[in-house]
Amino acid sequence: MTKITIGPAPLVYPMPTFLVGANVSGKPNFLAVAWGGIANGEPPMLSVAIRHSRYTHQGISQNKTFSVNVPSTDMVKEADYCGLASGARVNKVASCHFRVFYGKLNNAPLIEQCPINLECSVVHTLDLGSHSLFIGRIEETYITENCLTNGKPDVNKVKPLIYTTGQEWYHPLGEIMAKAFSVGREIGTLK
Ligand SMILES: Cc1cc2nc3c(=O)[nH]c(=O)nc-3n(C[C@H](O)[C@H](O)[C@H](O)COP(=O)(O)O)c2cc1C
Repeated sequence: MTKITIGPAPLVYPMPTFLVGANVSGKPNFLAVAWGGIANGEPPMLSVAIRHSRYTHQGISQNKTFSVNVPSTDMVKEADYCGLASGARVNKVASCHFRVFYGKLNNAPLIEQCPINLECSVVHTLDLGSHSLFIGRIEETYITENCLTNGKPDVNKVKPLIYTTGQEWYHPLGEIMAKAFSVGREIGTLK
């Protein structure tokens, strides 16, 4: 098997597409973020890597709060727009017709049209170079009621948007191929 080195590249497949929100000088703004994910279980935390130059970075630093909104595939244009335009120049909430609401933190803007919204308070900020890694404690999670099946979040109703780096595509969720925490048992004994 021949391996080619391509230098230290952030090559992890797939990546999520989040719309991360913050109030900047009192007004809601959102940017697209692919560099984010779960960081801790108890208490529940996540991380987002935000370049210093982003307008939203100012708001997260000002308020020490942010939101993570999970757009569905039918919001692909809005998600991409929020990754192209800066709130320093345009009102993305107005352009995308986002209906914004606030939860228990009061200053982390949430997008009603996104099926899942997480409200976060910043517990750590790591300045790693080009980006700040904001570690947020998830204070509350909101899910659109019709995205539940038997009271549980149903990913096939959420329809998350997957991003892949390299060719830079958005994808829908793929097909189910095996049951997690189960199919590996076919390899052999666990003890
Ligand atoms: C699919 C996609 C993923 C992105 N991921 C990130 C990211 O993880 N971190 C980041 O700082 N910028 C990321 N960006 C770029 C910002 O979303 C973009 O620069 C945006 O215009 C910044 O908006 P703002 O200045 O209003 O904060 C991404 C853009 C796209 C299209």
